[in-house]
Amino acid sequence: MFRLSRTSVIAWTAVVAVIAALSYALTGVTVPRASAEDKAKAAEDKAKAALVEFTADGKLKQPVGYRKWVYVGEVITPNDMNDGEAAFPEYHSVYMDPESFAEYEKTGKYRDGTVLIKELSSVGSKKAPSGNGYFQGEFTGLEAAIKDSKRFKDEPDNWAYFSFGHKYPLKAEVAKNSVAACNKCHEDNAKKTDFVFSEYYPVLRAAAPKSK
Ligand code: HEC
Repeated sequence: MFRLSRTSVIAWTAVVAVIAALSYALTGVTVPRASAEDKAKAAEDKAKAALVEFTADGKLKQPVGYRKWVYVGEVITPNDMNDGEAAFPEYHSVYMDPESFAEYEKTGKYRDGTVLIKELSSVGSKKAPSGNGYFQGEFTGLEAAIKDSKRFKDEPDNWAYFSFGHKYPLKAEVAKNSVAACNKCHEDNAKKTDFVFSEYYPVLRAAAPKSK
C-alpha cells in the first residue's frame, strides 16, 4: 500500500499553504477596493436609515430606533397640575439624533438635518419606596421636530413638526402640522435657541461649548 513519507507530507502541506496564501493575496489585491467603497456606502446608508423616513407624498413614517439616540431631557406637565388634562400629557422625553448631538457639542447649534423626538408617557404611580412624586407610567404619544432646509424650505427656520397622537395605537404616518399649530409657539418662545426649548434640556446645556 502507498504510504506518504514524512517529507512528502511536509512538502504537500507547504504546497497547500502556498496556494492558500496566493489565493488570499490575489483576492486580497482585487477585492478590497470595491469592498471598501461598498462598506463606506453601507455605513452611509445605515446612518441615513437610522434617522427618519418619509412616504412618497411627504408624510413622516413613525420613527424607529430613537430610544437609542441621545436622551437630552425630561419634562413633566402632569394632568393634575393642568386642570385635569395637559396639552401634552404628561412626561415628555426628548431625544436627539447622535450626529446632530455631536455637531451641537462642537457648535452649540442645531445642524441642518437635526431630528428631535418627544415621546410622551403617562404618570403611573405617585408613590414609591423613594417617596411621593410622579413616576413614569406607559408610553402614550409621539412627536417629532425636524430641521431640513431642502424638504422644509418654506417652514419658519426650516423646522417641521409632526404628531403621531397622544394615545396608542399611534398613527403609522402623518403629514406635518400647520405653522399655527406648532411652529408658532416654538418661534414665539424659543426663537433665540433656534425654535428648540434648549433651556429645559440639561444634557444640551451641559454639551454646548462654553462661550469664552
Ligand atoms: C403652546 C406652546 C407649544 C405648542 C403649540 C407646541 N409646542 Fe412643542 N414644545 C413646547 C415646549 C415648552 C417644549 C419644551 C419641552 C416640553 O415642554 O415638552 C416643546 C418641545 C417640543 C419638542 C422637543 C424639541 C424642542 O423643540 O424643544 C417637540 C418635538 C415638539 N415640542 C413638538 C411639537 C409639535 C409636533 C407641536 C404641534 C402639534 C408642538 N410641539 C406645539 C411648546 C409648544
